[in-house]
Amino acid sequence: MSDIKTIGVLTSGGDAPGMNAAIRAVVRTGIYYGMKVMGIRKGYNGLIHGDITEMTARSVSDIIHRGGTILQTARSPEFLTAEGQKKAADMAKVFGIDAIVVIGGDGSYRGARDLTKQGIGVVGLPGTIDNDIACTEYTIGYDTALNTVQDAIDKIRDTAYSHERCSVLEVMGRHAGYIALNVGIAGGAEAVVLPEMEFDLNKNIIKPIIEGRNRGKKHYVVIVAEGVGGAIEIAKEIEERTGVEARATILGHIQRGGSPTVYDRVMASLMGAKAVELLKDGLVNRIVALKDNKLTDFEINEALEMKKSIDQGIIELGKILSL
Ligand code: ADP
Ligand code: F6P
Repeated sequence: MSDIKTIGVLTSGGDAPGMNAAIRAVVRTGIYYGMKVMGIRKGYNGLIHGDITEMTARSVSDIIHRGGTILQTARSPEFLTAEGQKKAADMAKVFGIDAIVVIGGDGSYRGARDLTKQGIGVVGLPGTIDNDIACTEYTIGYDTALNTVQDAIDKIRDTAYSHERCSVLEVMGRHAGYIALNVGIAGGAEAVVLPEMEFDLNKNIIKPIIEGRNRGKKHYVVIVAEGVGGAIEIAKEIEERTGVEARATILGHIQRGGSPTVYDRVMASLMGAKAVELLKDGLVNRIVALKDNKLTDFEINEALEMKKSIDQGIIELGKILSL
């Protein structure tokens, strides 16, 4: 049996649909195993300032279907300082918190690792729509965001068809192109540009459009990841260089909200429960992950050293499927 009797849970960094399902699973599994569960509001800011209350099974009623995070989230510049981290760890001790479940991305894990150095145990759950956490194949919210973008592409395709236009759609992913790449396949895009590849307007966008036109295409979808950016300018260049009328849409934060898909709800629930099971067994400083389609966990330093790369095969497949 573990000495961990009181756990905290917080969400940090960008919010993602399914975070509520994860909070619910942490709270109810924790209570099931006889732990006291403290909800920490607004990420590390809330920890520093003691914005912390005990949660009951009823605190998480009626949230599994809601996007966002009932605990709210924050980016905390104060927590980046050694002083802020000490304040946060001291506050955890004030509330008797032995270990914290941190739901967030890589940045939040780096923060969590700093907490471990101050004697607070942590377990990380991957929560970000970007799916850019190296140790895991899946992050909470990614599936919902993909479906939101897919719905937008389908709608945009209808009007692109009617007007014989090119639609340029900018999707989220400041540093990662997983959303862009996968909706490119699912939405049948003619061209996809990602932060992970060198961007050449002529090679990556103009040429595929002209070649498509020569094969009889009359409307086109181009996906631009936020990290490449410039959808409006790209649309202008497409018109000028190809003569195809073009319109740009920047999807923005609509991708971060909305009711989570079944997959996000189930995975968030399984991951939340797994986090508590690790703590129940006295295991701390771990990150819960999906690897080879199975739930697993990694030591936090090991997880933070891992690298993730874009599958070149999917990029090539996208080109073949848009012939
Ligand atoms: P994400 O968790 O989605 O990657 P951020 O990178 O914005 O989001 O990180 C969320 C918060 O985690 C930051 O506001 C900061 O308080 C904390 N954090 C991020 N990077 C570090 C770091 N290197 N050391 C300590 N804390 C960090
Ligand atoms: O949640 C991931 C993400 O959407 C990134 O793709 C983007 O870079 C960032 O968050 C933007 O977040 P915010 O607008 O909250 O700063």
